[in-house]
Amino acid sequence: PQLEPFVDPLPRIPVLTGSQLELRAASTTHRFHRDLDPSPALAYGGMDYLGPTVEAHAGDAVTVAYRNEIGVHPLAADFDTTLHGVTEQDRTAVPTSIHLHGAVTPPEHDGHPAFLQRPGQGHVHHYPNVHEATQFWYHDHAMGITRLNVYAGLAGVFLLRDEFDTGTTGNAWGLPSGEFEMPLVLQEKIFTADGRQSIRATPVVPQGRWDGGTPGDVGVVNGKIWPELEVARGMYRLRLVNAASFSVWNLFFGNRMRFWVLGMESGLLAAPVPTTRVRLAPGERVDLLVDFGAVEPGGTVELCNDEPPPLAASQRGARAMPLFCRFRVADTRGFTGAVPETLRGGAGQPTDLEPVPTPQVQRTVTVMQLPDPSSGSVLMSLNNLRFGDSDIEMPRQGAVEQWDIVNVTPEPHPIHLHLVNFRVLGRQAFDVARYVRENPAPPVGTKWAPPVDAFVTGPRVPPEPWESGDKDTVVANPGTVTRIVAVFPTAGRLGFDPDATFGVGEIAAPVSPEHGGHGTPAHAGHDAAPAASGPLQGYVWHCHMLDHEDHDMMLGYRTVAE
Ligand code: C2O
Ligand code: CU
Repeated sequence: PQLEPFVDPLPRIPVLTGSQLELRAASTTHRFHRDLDPSPALAYGGMDYLGPTVEAHAGDAVTVAYRNEIGVHPLAADFDTTLHGVTEQDRTAVPTSIHLHGAVTPPEHDGHPAFLQRPGQGHVHHYPNVHEATQFWYHDHAMGITRLNVYAGLAGVFLLRDEFDTGTTGNAWGLPSGEFEMPLVLQEKIFTADGRQSIRATPVVPQGRWDGGTPGDVGVVNGKIWPELEVARGMYRLRLVNAASFSVWNLFFGNRMRFWVLGMESGLLAAPVPTTRVRLAPGERVDLLVDFGAVEPGGTVELCNDEPPPLAASQRGARAMPLFCRFRVADTRGFTGAVPETLRGGAGQPTDLEPVPTPQVQRTVTVMQLPDPSSGSVLMSLNNLRFGDSDIEMPRQGAVEQWDIVNVTPEPHPIHLHLVNFRVLGRQAFDVARYVRENPAPPVGTKWAPPVDAFVTGPRVPPEPWESGDKDTVVANPGTVTRIVAVFPTAGRLGFDPDATFGVGEIAAPVSPEHGGHGTPAHAGHDAAPAASGPLQGYVWHCHMLDHEDHDMMLGYRTVAE
């Protein structure tokens, strides 16, 4: 349908505070646009799409009693029962697992993709919030249907405040707060002719088959298509999350005005950095300071994107989705503070970010796309493995590790590690053809992650300003090694055992083709007997294109005590 932009007001998402919260996931209907009928959706916490913005304070633990009360899934016809653990019954008995993205939590409270709550079931999650102020977000993480659950609406913002970044006027850095601070949940969507949410573009792949993901036709912000926000003349703090399943966006304002990066996934920078654009991949957040005083009263400015879709989608005719929302500047005086000089150096706090620690271990991991003979489609993979394979990374607790994320595919993939924050050292191009030729990959199911240093071709490119602080997700660009440094925490520092076993996984064991994958017919994945799973252990790392983590660009990992 042809939809008129800027006819719906950009909603402010309700805030939920308290130390004991309840979040139920439920089936709903939600109107995405004035001219669309309400569409079946999913939501948390009594909303009709997305979930409330949870606000908590650093050091104050929050308990979330999560409960699944979902009925029939709004995207039931899109379930692909050849993916891990996904069954026919799941369409009406929808498995879920709520994950607080970015938070450092005990493993049983991390929303492991195999630790599932079905309708009528719940789990009480405990979030210690031992972290400085930042923007986490929460979303569903059930294996094989994460893309469908999140797209349908299971996502929300979680703001952590601390003694400096209080979220109120009088905060240490003079940042806009209250009505002048605004979380923006950015998504892209496709709607059917009758106004229902759809995950499918052109029907290249039959419905019910995983198809790798697709960019949206329309931009959705806080649940509305191309909405408009009336703003006062002055500074705003906009806290963006890319909550889309698929697209990486290059964001800018239509008038190309300058704005400032304050922080990202895991905290603030040392000082605001001016820019005219930020690139934001699925899972990433960015904390921005924007001066609408630079726009004439009565004037408008749009939030735009010009990053084209990745190669495969472009080849199918997809184009950049150019628009999210519009800001209309009212003739009222807003937040009058100036751009802060600093964002660190409060009492007892260093004035700069901690220096990037020196790695003790250099670990190579690979980002791959393989033919999938069982479906005739492709298999997204890390390290040439499938989710559930046992040859996982096992960093030592306390170790400072450099991960060289080697992307041999022609597309960018945002890589997210649970449990740890990291810093980006930089990126470097490498000779993919020679790397692959001189290091032939074994059959799927055998780890493949050869060191890349002998194959680099370009200079080391430092991280962009919006990715130069503490992060939990980083874009691994095609033909590039992206190097990050993480400190894997000890049980002593965490106050819990990150390697404790918990729960019982409900997931089928992966079936790897018996012969090398390349065009060899093999037994289909859905013949797999359910794994005699036993207790779960550890965390996951994965591509945050939700379509990719569902099949199978996600692996477990454990951190092991010395
Ligand atoms: Cu935002 Cu493992 O996820
Ligand atoms: Cu990916």
